[in-house]
Amino acid sequence: MTSELEQKIVDGKARAGVVGLGYVGLPLAVELAASGLHVTGIDVARAKVDAINAGRSYILDVPGERVRELVHQGQLDATTDFAAVSGLDTINICVPTPLRKTREPDLSYVIGAIDSLLPHMRPGQLLVLESTTYPGTTDEVVLPRLRSVGLEPGRDVEVAFSPERTDPGNKLFDTRRIPKVVGGCTPVASSAARALYGRCIDHVVMVSSPRVAEMVKLLENTFRSVNIALANEMAMMCDHLGIDVWEVIDAAATKPFGFMPFYPGPGLGGHCIPVDPHYLTWKARAEGFEPRFIELAGQINAAKPQFVAGKVMDALNDRRKALRGATILALGVAYKRDVDDVRESPALDVMSLLIDKGAEISFSDPFVAEVELRGKKLKSVALDERVIAGADAVLLLTDHTSFDRPAIAAAASLLIDTRNAFKGIAGDHILRV
Ligand SMILES: NC(=O)c1ccc[n+]([C@@H]2O[C@H](COP(=O)([O-])OP(=O)(O)OC[C@H]3O[C@@H](n4cnc5c(N)ncnc54)[C@H](O)[C@@H]3O)[C@@H](O)[C@H]2O)c1
Repeated sequence: MTSELEQKIVDGKARAGVVGLGYVGLPLAVELAASGLHVTGIDVARAKVDAINAGRSYILDVPGERVRELVHQGQLDATTDFAAVSGLDTINICVPTPLRKTREPDLSYVIGAIDSLLPHMRPGQLLVLESTTYPGTTDEVVLPRLRSVGLEPGRDVEVAFSPERTDPGNKLFDTRRIPKVVGGCTPVASSAARALYGRCIDHVVMVSSPRVAEMVKLLENTFRSVNIALANEMAMMCDHLGIDVWEVIDAAATKPFGFMPFYPGPGLGGHCIPVDPHYLTWKARAEGFEPRFIELAGQINAAKPQFVAGKVMDALNDRRKALRGATILALGVAYKRDVDDVRESPALDVMSLLIDKGAEISFSDPFVAEVELRGKKLKSVALDERVIAGADAVLLLTDHTSFDRPAIAAAASLLIDTRNAFKGIAGDHILRV
């Protein structure tokens, strides 16, 4: 039987709320609003709230025009005031889940958001956690908090977990086309959450519980971390054996079944892949299971920036130059192509290691204006022939599409490429690592 809440969602009469308007929350808020629901975004960051209410976007993948239109139509608004929660029917939580310095899960944002929601929640609402977290979080962290204010899950409120799979910068898969996994605490919660996501996502995949949905996300990200580690170890092994790893992977990728190419790089980056597997490790250990793959992958990926820094030093050495005092122009600091996100970016690790050795580092990134390294602010420089030719080494760390590869290759005296961005461009001065 369709619940009253589900019917409201299907009829477009439900009022939706999204807590945490970042890379995950803002795109979701926009899609739900575009589907015809009235959406209120809630964030502690006043600047984000003001931007949305002024019809501006601060996320590359969300066009400002869309935000403007939805705000103008009265479909979307934002606030820092959690009192708005009492007027909502559905609430999606999309706040950060980082690691503590000890590499243990830091659920303080999730707990903070829930504690801010609780005084304003009422029976009849659907709460969906989207933040990536260890299996058991919904059952062990969210439900007890609801019960502590007398809201019994399954009786008063409905609760589900649905991991986010957004891939910033990916033009092929926007929110609508990425299937969404959902696990509700009860059949009613599952059904209501399916109806909510079904408004703006083509394919909603139901699983039997929040715990399974939580684990799905961690399997996906662990899969990437482990396979990238394999590619990174292959790269270091091939370097040792004098084999071009890129040629090997490209040839292996011609196998039409049983092989999926993963590529090496300067290390592992982004808010998710380097972080999320540690949520799983922590939980598994807490339950007495020792996960080995995740740890090994983490160690190999973490060693890659050091390997790249060593390669830069060797290349300069071959040209009778010391790393100390050498001018190095880093191309790209974002953690991956065509995004403006520098969280956990391995480019920053490589640059910091080079600074530690006395190199003079500058960088150019069309998406990132400034970074802070070893306590010093560096501003992105405009790329021109003089800047490129003036560097003792040019080090490609992020393969942004807009980099003019032939021009860079022609102007650089030494070019070290960590992403195979200069594939097909020949030259003794180009080194692929
Ligand atoms: N960025 C991605 O590509 C991606 C992909 C999949 C999953 N995730 C997961 O989604 C979650 C959110 O990540 P993100 O990249 O959107 O983070 P983000 O930092 O871009 O955004 C989080 C937002 O939450 C806000 N916030 C923090 N505490 C709050 C509180 N108590 N109340 C209200 N708002 C609060 C912050 O101000 C910020 O705007 C994380 O668990 C992350 O692991 C991220």
